Amino acid sequence: MPKIVIAIDGFSSCGKSTTAKQVAARMGYAYIDTGAMYRSVTLYFLENHIALTNPKAVLDALPHIHITFNFNPKTGRNETCLNGLNVEEEIRKMYISNIVSEVSAIPEVRYAMVAQQQKLGRRRGVVMDGRDIGTKVFPDAELKVFMTADAVIRAQRRQIELLQKGEMIGLDVILENLKKRDFIDSNRSEGPLRKAEDAIELDTSYLTLDEQIDWVIQQADEKI
Ligand code: C5P
Repeated sequence: MPKIVIAIDGFSSCGKSTTAKQVAARMGYAYIDTGAMYRSVTLYFLENHIALTNPKAVLDALPHIHITFNFNPKTGRNETCLNGLNVEEEIRKMYISNIVSEVSAIPEVRYAMVAQQQKLGRRRGVVMDGRDIGTKVFPDAELKVFMTADAVIRAQRRQIELLQKGEMIGLDVILENLKKRDFIDSNRSEGPLRKAEDAIELDTSYLTLDEQIDWVIQQADEKI
């Protein structure tokens, strides 16, 4: 059976990664969380005091950033590693969410990440979620899904996720962060968040996770 690329783009906290992960598992595909890559770059820049306004410092830092997705037998999941260190938990924290969109708007950061993402998916058989997968990373993806959901519902879902990880953040703070990220992501010059012309839109506001997964798999089956 031929393997395809499934690109899942959309606004922050629409359920893209949870859906993409499960779709990949059910189809026997690899899952690539491109948001985790931008979050890892953000963590590296913060830890190494790289000024975002200093293009030379950014360019010099990029070759020192190695992001991998390694299997963790304890959790049974692939987790994000930055230069060999597991950063899966750290990169999900609010202080990273607060600045990641500024980092991911830097063109040089995007060129480096997009090149790595294209390499990771070159053999196809991947589900990749992000903001520019269907438009920039894999414009030839066989299936493109653009996810949306009501902003308050997205903030509520994110709040529960953070709470499960021990971070208690007010709904208004989360909502503000989502809106700010969506705005910066949609208005940057390089690889802005856009629905690809040939993407199918999926509003997840009132769908269960299982419904979202089944829907994507059904769409994928039609493309194979
Ligand atoms: O998907 P997630 O919310 O973890 O992504 C974090 C941030 O990374 C986004 O708000 C966006 O700024 C950036 N991102 C991006 N392009 C992608 C994936 C994520 O710019 N393909």
